[in-house]
Amino acid sequence: MGFRIKAAGALALALIIGAGAAWAQGDVISQRKAAMKAIGDGNRAPAAMLRGEAPFNLSTVQAQLKVIEASATSALKLFPDNSKTGGDTAALPKIWETKADFDGKMRKFADDAKSAQVKITDEASFKQEFPALLKTCGGCHTDYRARRS
Ligand code: HEC
Repeated sequence: MGFRIKAAGALALALIIGAGAAWAQGDVISQRKAAMKAIGDGNRAPAAMLRGEAPFNLSTVQAQLKVIEASATSALKLFPDNSKTGGDTAALPKIWETKADFDGKMRKFADDAKSAQVKITDEASFKQEFPALLKTCGGCHTDYRARRS
């Protein structure tokens, strides 16, 4: 009885480990997509403020800068060599051909979001600083992210 339970447990564990290995690569891809999606979703509110379609709200802007800093920092670890394909990734092979440049851009993105938290203290400084951060998105996507048709 005890043995059968142990054997069943071992089998279940083996299945979990096996599935985990096959799944790990897709997992890191879904994690980086989720990190980017958090940045993209969070940007809607500040973007509306920039266009004058929503009232300026400093705490919303600061919260988004923290999301960007945290997501970009975690994204640094989410482009390992074994994650070039699969998981419906839009990441281009160029990321791994010029990895130092890519990592540098991602690190600068996190750093810029961090320093913007200090620089942005009111609506005027928001309007001055935030657009530069938005330019960073396109600067990296142009080189490193496939365009979806
Ligand atoms: C240093 C590079 C870099 C920067 C900077 C960057 N991105 Fe990305 N982004 C990527 C890469 C690479 C992907 C593709 C990831 C994948 O599909 O595996 C991506 C994917 C995305 C996606 C799609 C996520 C999904 O659901 O698949 C969104 C949305 C996005 N980025 C928004 C942004 C926004 C908004 C900014 C700027 C505020 C930004 N990104 C800045 C590299 C970057």
